[in-house]
Amino acid sequence: MTERTAANLAGRVALVTGGGAGMGQAHAILMAERGADIVVQDVNRDTAEATVTEIRGKGRKARAFVHDIADIAATRAMVKAAEGEFGHIDIVVNNAGIGGGRKKIEDIDEALFHKMLNIHLTGHFFLTQAVVPGMKARRMGKIINIASRWAMTGADNSSHYIAAKGALVAITKAWAHEFAPWNIHVNAVAPGGVWTDMVLKSAGEAFIREEEKKVPLKRWAQPVEYAYAVAFLASGESDFITGQVLSPNGGASIVGI
Ligand SMILES: NC(=O)c1ccc[n+]([C@@H]2O[C@H](COP(=O)([O-])OP(=O)(O)OC[C@H]3O[C@@H](n4cnc5c(N)ncnc54)[C@H](O)[C@@H]3O)[C@@H](O)[C@H]2O)c1
Repeated sequence: MTERTAANLAGRVALVTGGGAGMGQAHAILMAERGADIVVQDVNRDTAEATVTEIRGKGRKARAFVHDIADIAATRAMVKAAEGEFGHIDIVVNNAGIGGGRKKIEDIDEALFHKMLNIHLTGHFFLTQAVVPGMKARRMGKIINIASRWAMTGADNSSHYIAAKGALVAITKAWAHEFAPWNIHVNAVAPGGVWTDMVLKSAGEAFIREEEKKVPLKRWAQPVEYAYAVAFLASGESDFITGQVLSPNGGASIVGI
């Protein structure tokens, strides 16, 4: 099976937002290892360029685009430039994001609320709008929205973050219906706990160690464990899957029918 899947993204071009660090970087690198060329979008130039360097070292084409994903005009310009340079965009991973900071409702002012929605939801909505015409013309596409397991379970904090992630789950289902006639598949990956800077920098390692005790598998994931899910949803192996939410979370939440 490994041999059959090793180069299953050959000839594909994938765009990953937040591709400079954490899970986004893992998605970008694993898809490159499986044969895709990668457009790395991030707000951080240094990390985006580092990801690009690593991908080029693997023999794949890569280019960094640096801007805030909430900047819709910059996103549209990126898609135009990337399509010009790479020829087409087959896969989009709507991943860039910021943590909820464990804030209670009283601590979420209008500016923070709008920032959260603008990055996670609005930015990725208009990125998807920009790439879909090319996918429709080629009658193929894979769109993967990175949500959170909290979109399904809720939590006692970060309701602005959960609002944005819940909306990503909802538009995953809407887009799956809307784009199906063009063979464009839309799915969400809803992570549980992951060892990335998002939580490490805000809450610290001791917090994660405590949280790990609550998980049936007794640990949080490494970023690459999410990249395996994303690479699967980006590949032809998932061609009969659309409108679904895949939540690798170590059993932390077991929901659905
Ligand atoms: N870490 C977790 O436990 C966890 C759990 C559930 C969901 N998620 C989600 O997974 C995704 C990736 O998270 P991560 O843990 O890898 O985070 P991370 O902080 O390690 O990486 C996030 C990346 O996004 C970039 N980014 C942030 N704001 C941006 C913006 N406005 N425009 C463009 N790029 C921006 C950062 O520079 C960084 O490279 C996020 O959407 C996050 O909400 C994370």
